[in-house]
Amino acid sequence: MIPVGLHTRNPQIDYADAFTPEAWLDGRAAADWWIVPFSAGPGRCPGSDFGGTVGAAALAALLRQYDFRPVAPRLGPGRPLPKALDPFTLRLYAAPAMR
Ligand code: HEM
Repeated sequence: MIPVGLHTRNPQIDYADAFTPEAWLDGRAAADWWIVPFSAGPGRCPGSDFGGTVGAAALAALLRQYDFRPVAPRLGPGRPLPKALDPFTLRLYAAPAMR
């Protein structure tokens, strides 16, 4: 087992502890093999496009229908990112989207 948190939160990555989605647009994340989620080179995951497309479609469908907010906010733009997030204790309120 390779805990992904050890790679993605590696202190050698200068943006490891910050919410930095632009790292995926400016090439930094793609160039940094510590955090490529589908690996790279000849062993790169052949299901990466499928996984990304299905994941994005599922999230989009949920976000179109519901507004989510955390029951007890632990995450926020002004807060430090936790090293890991236990998905088994994460609780969200979901209300029908008001759009
Ligand atoms: C979010 C979903 C997925 C993630 C994060 C993921 C991640 C990965 C990673 C990191 C590897 C490289 C493993 C290594 O270096 O030994 C890999 C390999 C592989 N993945 Fe995925 N994968 C995902 C979905 C899928 C799907 C949907 C398929 C098939 C439909 C798939 C098929 C494969 C196969 C066959 C390999 C072996 C490639 C090789 O060794 O030549 N994966 N995946």
